[in-house]
This record gives sequence, structure tokens and C-alpha cells, in this order.
Amino acid sequence: MARIISVANQKGGVGKTTTAINVAAGLAKSGRSALVVDVDPQCNATSGLGVEPAARHPLLAGRPLLGEVSATSQPGLFVLPGSQSLADADALSASNRQRASALRQQLGGELGRFDYVLIDCPPSLGQLTRAALAASGEIYIPIQCEYFAMEGLSQIVELARQCRSRENPRLEIGGIVLTMFDPALELANEVASEVREYFAETVFESIIPRDVAISEAPSHGRSVMDYAPRARGSRAYTELVMEVIDRESSSSRTRAGSPARA
Ligand SMILES: Nc1ncnc2c1ncn2[C@@H]1O[C@H](COP(=O)(O)OP(=O)(O)O)[C@@H](O)[C@H]1O
Ligand SMILES: [Mg+2]
Repeated sequence: MARIISVANQKGGVGKTTTAINVAAGLAKSGRSALVVDVDPQCNATSGLGVEPAARHPLLAGRPLLGEVSATSQPGLFVLPGSQSLADADALSASNRQRASALRQQLGGELGRFDYVLIDCPPSLGQLTRAALAASGEIYIPIQCEYFAMEGLSQIVELARQCRSRENPRLEIGGIVLTMFDPALELANEVASEVREYFAETVFESIIPRDVAISEAPSHGRSVMDYAPRARGSRAYTELVMEVIDRESSSSRTRAGSPARA
């Protein structure tokens, strides 16, 4: 059974796509098969893995999904490409429980043969993100250590709780990822410790630093570990992946319904 993880945050530019790509790539390097499912019409995850967006979104095309999965330049790493069609974005998000349960079936069924499925969500709390959460076992929330980070965080955590109590009791907050961290900024340190204080061990220990190699890698269609193995960003994502793997076996993850302190 695949471990299905939504990478979500309603804010844009916080590192969702970057985290989905690099965590999936790191898992593939460790010998697990990993699939990135791109449901954001911007298709950054698709192009960042060196794959062309699809004309029609595979989740809507009505063809067997496995046939729509693209290989990437890295063994074990695959992508279900997104589509830039606005009509498709509407259709995917014109949604309801039906879409959520269809998505769950599609992911748990045909795509269940991957060890990991990471869903790169669009920057919204809309139906598409809801459907992704309803189909997932976990949510990973990347946040940028800046002003208002906590506010945004409580909204997405609340959405996860709602989803858990209404449609998907299995959903857990798998982890909060601190991204684009700049240790020279006083504020970044303050935000990081505030988030840790509130969400305790739900926050991954590894902190992803701001690193230009991370932002360059997608234009080469590669993960940062492939593009610049010795870069700081590469080491940070590698450490994060080790934590992800550690949490495979841990049963003490914080459930969406009972955060560290609430
Ligand atoms: N740790 C980082 N250091 C430097 N640039 C980063 C880092 N993480 C993400 N970026 C860049 O910031 C931008 C937004 O990141 P992205 O992952 O696309 O965010 P989201 O998917 O949440 O909108 C992208 O250009 C990406 O390359
Ligand atoms: Mg994105």
C-alpha cells in the first residue's frame, strides 16, 4: 500500500512543490518508488521534474492512470503530470465528496503500487486541496519562517482537522517543514521556535535553508540532490528524507485531531 502524502499550504511560494519533488527524489534514491501527483494547474512539479504537462489532466482523462505516469531522469522517481488547462482545473475542483472518493480510489487503487505518493497541492484551501487531503494518509505542511507564518498554519491545520472529522479519519499531520530558512534573520529564528513550541515534534527537525541550488535545480528538471549533491539544500533535504523514513515506522505521529498543544 502506498503511503499517500499531501503537500499543502494555502500560501503560494512556501516550498510545497520544492518539498514534494525533493522528498520524492530522496525516497527514490533510498530505493523506494515515489510518485509525485501534480494537481496544481501551474504544473511546477511536472516541469521541475523535466516532464511536459499533459493536455488533459490524467485524473480526468478516463484512461488507466498507470499509463499516464511518466518516468523522470531518476530511477524510481515518477510523476503523474498536471495540466495547465483551466477547464481541467475547474473540473478537478468543481468538487465534492464524489471527487474526493474518486481520487482516493484512483490513488489507493492503480497508484497504490508505489511506495510513496506525494500530492503537490495548489496554493488554496479549495476543493482540490480538500479532495487531496481526503485521499491522503498524511499532510506535510511546508512553511516559510516569516511574519504571519503561524496564522496561515492554523488555517491549514484547521482544514486538516475538519477533513479528519468529516471525511477521512485516517488523516494525520505527518509533519511541518520549515523552509527557506535564513539563520541570519532574527525573525526567522523567532518564527521557527514559535512553531516548534506550539507543534512540538510534529515539526521535522531538519530545517531547509534558503539555497540558490534548490531554486536552480528545477530548471534542469532535476532534484537538488542530483543537481548539486554537495549543496547545503541538498544535505538538508536528504536529512528530511531520513526523518520521513523514520516516521514510516513510528506510530506516535500527532493526529490532526490532537495537535501537540490545543
Ligand atoms: N529552500 C529554498 N531556497 C531557495 N529557493 C527556494 C527554496 N525553496 C523553494 N525555493 C524557490 O521558491 C519558489 C517557490 O517555491 P515552490 O516550491 O514553488 O513553492 P509553492 O509550491 O509553495 O508555491 C520557487 O522558485 C523555488 O525554486
Ligand atoms: Mg507549487
